[in-house]
Amino acid sequence: MGIKVPEALTASHIHYDGEAGRAWAAGLPALAERFLDEWDLRLDGGTRHGAVALVLPVVRADGTEAVLKLQPVGEETADESVALRAWAGEGSVLLRDADPETGTMLLERLDDRSLADVPDVMRALDVLTGLLRRLVTHPAPEGLRQLGDIARDMLGEVDDALGRLAREEDRYWLRWCASAVAELVSEPGDRLLHWDLHYENVLAADREPWLAIDPKPLAGDPGFELMPALWNRWEEVSGAGDVLRRFDLMVDGLGLDRQRAAGWTFGRVLQNCLWDVRAGDDELSEIQLAIASALRVRW
Ligand SMILES: Nc1ncnc2c1ncn2[C@@H]1O[C@H](COP(=O)(O)OP(=O)(O)O)[C@@H](O)[C@H]1O
Ligand SMILES: [Mg+2]
Repeated sequence: MGIKVPEALTASHIHYDGEAGRAWAAGLPALAERFLDEWDLRLDGGTRHGAVALVLPVVRADGTEAVLKLQPVGEETADESVALRAWAGEGSVLLRDADPETGTMLLERLDDRSLADVPDVMRALDVLTGLLRRLVTHPAPEGLRQLGDIARDMLGEVDDALGRLAREEDRYWLRWCASAVAELVSEPGDRLLHWDLHYENVLAADREPWLAIDPKPLAGDPGFELMPALWNRWEEVSGAGDVLRRFDLMVDGLGLDRQRAAGWTFGRVLQNCLWDVRAGDDELSEIQLAIASALRVRW
């Protein structure tokens, strides 16, 4: 039976990785066949995907449902299985098997429904925060990317990025975020962070009502975790007050120091902005600026 790679997934890999991305996507059917065979799986239902991964529902030889997740091995994705193993299914999807060399994983099958489908965003955020609270109680396993290193690298990039920004307002906010990070860089934290816990990365389940998927783990301060849930479902944010309501709900739910959490959130704004500038933008994103300016009163 042929495995079809969704066009949108191929397009996404070409967008991020050019010809290498196209080649990776083209190799997916063969890679999937290899692991269906090696892990004794049979396909069971329609293909799913995100911006990065191809996810195939499968049934294992013992009859249990699972999904086969295929993604390229990169800095962000390399340690997904390490984090899932550390969490051992407590608030996160269970890892059944992994091949670190190819970035292939066999995961517990969860529902189609995600927190993006929960109409009340504050209720969705409450669930997300409850999961995050459990996930970040774990100390980071040895060998993960370190927030301290990421922060130092970002600070090293700021001068060059400032030179590429056309508007004074953008330079102001880039400097603002960098100065917050400079104050915090010597205390980067040591918790196991998910880094990408937005609404679509929390799926409904049977074992627990909701479980986290898709970590891009690193070791650091939980304040660095808040940004994805601030800027996703942005259409439902009606102003600075709403940004603060989301931020405060998470800070209180996680028991964080408000100012430090604001500082690390500026760190995430900095990370996103440097990313955009590196990709050729000469203006900062409006959403990033709106979040930074809303949070100014918390710093
Ligand atoms: N364990 C799972 N059970 C069911 N569906 C899943 C599972 N893991 C991922 N998916 C589906 O595949 C999509 C992409 O997977 P994800 O791990 O989020 O990768 P990406 O990095 O591409 O976002 C998810 O949004 C979800 O619809
Ligand atoms: Mg995802």
